[in-house]
Amino acid sequence: MTVEIRALLFDLDGVITDTVEFHYLSWKQLTEEEGIPFSREHNELLRGLSRRESLAVILNGRAIEEAVAEDWMRRKNDYYLRYMNDMTPADRLPGVTELLTEARAAGAKTAVASASRNAHAVLERLELLDLFDAIVDAHCVVHSKPAPDLFLWAAGRLNVNPRQAVVFEDGEAGVAAALAGGFRVVGLGQANVAKAHVLAPDLSNVTLSWVAKQLEAIGTLPT
Ligand code: BG6
Ligand code: MG
Repeated sequence: MTVEIRALLFDLDGVITDTVEFHYLSWKQLTEEEGIPFSREHNELLRGLSRRESLAVILNGRAIEEAVAEDWMRRKNDYYLRYMNDMTPADRLPGVTELLTEARAAGAKTAVASASRNAHAVLERLELLDLFDAIVDAHCVVHSKPAPDLFLWAAGRLNVNPRQAVVFEDGEAGVAAALAGGFRVVGLGQANVAKAHVLAPDLSNVTLSWVAKQLEAIGTLPT
């Protein structure tokens, strides 16, 4: 079976850049101020979840008023923006530049599909806007990951069928979203990506032909 890859769809946080740590530190500051327990282990569960969903997980069933929730999300984002504003192209994760450059030279389309409302600003800091044909973020869809909507919206923007697109994800919710959309999925890192079709520690040494070979080796995916 030959696998044709016409598009690469990237999650942003934890795939293109290590903003996972910045999200963690920002939630940590808020939860310390509010006396809510929150650990790095907790933070792993938040990969790919929207700001509101993340707060719900942190609150662990505790109900708070909507005005309080909005205030807490605003404060968390203010803390996050302080970290984000210091980002530079040096904050691209290993292999990102090489894979994007290879994809574009090969004529494959590229998109970011992120649950973050800060995706555009982060890509701007990383000076990566020009390397993507579409940037799809939390402003584009109602249902965030694990719903497939962000990835399906991105595939539509690129005019490709999900079966011809590969998603790169580092979070359980994102892998679930991509699988639900019918995409081929490369799971990065170790945290909760075991259901992806192909696994890699990060994007270093990940090339189009390597991904195609891995998918061909599985051989059971419908085309
Ligand atoms: C996802 C991150 O990409 O974006 C989550 O993995 C984050 O940790 C979510 O909560 C929402 O981001 P933002 O920037 O809109 O608060
Ligand atoms: Mg992520």
